[in-house]
Amino acid sequence: IYSLLMPRDLQGEHILVTAGPTEEPLDPVRFITNRSSGKMGLAICKRAQIRGAEVTLISGPLKAEPPNGIRHIRIRTALEMRDRVLEEFPRASAVIKAAAVADFRPASLERDKIKKDGMEPTIVLTKNPDILAELGRTKRPDQILVGFAAETRDVLENGRSKLKNKNLDMLVLNDVSKPGAGFDCDTNIVRFLFRSGEEEQMDIMSKEKVADLILDRVIRLRSKTE
Ligand code: CTP
Ligand code: CA
Repeated sequence: IYSLLMPRDLQGEHILVTAGPTEEPLDPVRFITNRSSGKMGLAICKRAQIRGAEVTLISGPLKAEPPNGIRHIRIRTALEMRDRVLEEFPRASAVIKAAAVADFRPASLERDKIKKDGMEPTIVLTKNPDILAELGRTKRPDQILVGFAAETRDVLENGRSKLKNKNLDMLVLNDVSKPGAGFDCDTNIVRFLFRSGEEEQMDIMSKEKVADLILDRVIRLRSKTE
């Protein structure tokens, strides 16, 4: 009943959402990952679908189920996420990159399980490609690109430079040092930064509310691309 009262104001949009962590394997039984639960990305999927958008989710392992009726592509590594995102990108009218992509992966994947007898191993890491920056370099003018940033220090400066360097229309800036913000938490405290230079500071609120406010901004940005 509630959803019948909601405006289907995202009808016609095809929103590509990424969520959750990636897993970077070391050997057949071990991997490196991060604390992302995927809650923010899932909230965006849920609200976007209710508001009439077609939704494609590309995600690592999630701690909750995605809503029924959306297309869900499961990946594990950052490299797999990159391949699938680049494949889906041309069909998306907007991309919201909430995933916590691992910045580094083990430089080599051991074919056999690493054994504990012998010397203590050293893990050598290599950089993963920045998927969001790649989208920023190739996006069409009608595609709206929304990125996230998690920062613990020099929050505003870092956020502003990510917005610019990755050629985003909008950045959702998250100070993860604050209680009630960020990883594995039901609430968030964010600031929206826009290409135009405009900025909006939000109070602490549920991730679903943050999702709705992000989607409201996508609609506002859409009116400027038309
Ligand atoms: N991101 C990405 N590909 C990566 C790393 C990050 O697409 N290899 C995206 C995330 O999905 C997020 C945004 O970039 O939308 C910002 O992620 P964040 O970790 O805050 O920034 P980084 O650019 O990775 O910089 P750093 O971690 O050094 O602060
Ligand atoms: Ca990062």
